[in-house]
Amino acid sequence: MLTLSVARLRAQLSRVTKLWGRVNIPPMQLERILQKHGFGSRRECRGLIRRDRVAVNGQVCDDPFVELDTEGLVFTVDGVDWPYAEFATLMLHKPAGYECSRKPKHHAGVLELLPIPLRERDVQPIGRLDEDTTGLLLITNDGQLNHQLSSAKRKVPKVYLATTKHPLDQAQIDQLLAGVLLADEYEPISAAAAEIVGEKLLRLTLTEGKYHQVKRMVAAVSNRVEALHREAVGELTLPPDLKPGEWRWLSAADLQKLGYSK
Ligand code: URA
Repeated sequence: MLTLSVARLRAQLSRVTKLWGRVNIPPMQLERILQKHGFGSRRECRGLIRRDRVAVNGQVCDDPFVELDTEGLVFTVDGVDWPYAEFATLMLHKPAGYECSRKPKHHAGVLELLPIPLRERDVQPIGRLDEDTTGLLLITNDGQLNHQLSSAKRKVPKVYLATTKHPLDQAQIDQLLAGVLLADEYEPISAAAAEIVGEKLLRLTLTEGKYHQVKRMVAAVSNRVEALHREAVGELTLPPDLKPGEWRWLSAADLQKLGYSK
């Protein structure tokens, strides 16, 4: 609880610094920076540093207690660069065959695709994609971001490409746009956008995140989803060079595309 509020305070200070350039963020000990980034206990991090496995801005540093300015800091552990990140927020190109749940039952979990230090930071997927769905999955340990993007009120658009079993027709599109009643729902749900992009290829934009929503909506118009891929969340699209199974940090520009503001 205390850690969270200190983290949030640092994030606030960082923003204020950017805005006015006046407030100084207190420097942080290297050992503490590593611990915060998931490299183990303070003692374990001290061991890594003393064994010359850590570099700061390109220079090996063997002093665990050196105080560093965290703004724009990049440190290296065993040759891998890590930008200092108050919160860990990233995108993953989810491959098929991975579950998004915290305790996967039948397949590997998506978090297994991330390096251990990231997993140690208690990151979680924002919303869920089915085991057989591929595409853009956002992952974070920033509870506020998770809440904002998952909130039904915010109606963040999610764009899917669905391969269907049967050819699509305009009547199906009209129904999806007008709204379909799903089992266990009290009101019809309509797609924010729907277009035929191939004989059996549908681009569908939804602003909710209900269980199996695309599959159920497509079934409700007498068709069937055979494959599903998420192309975008908000204005953020899956980069074409991010291969299935690969991940990338979200930049400030990416967060802006998600309309994220604290
Ligand atoms: N809708 C679905 O049916 N499945 C997903 O994975 C995402 C949206």
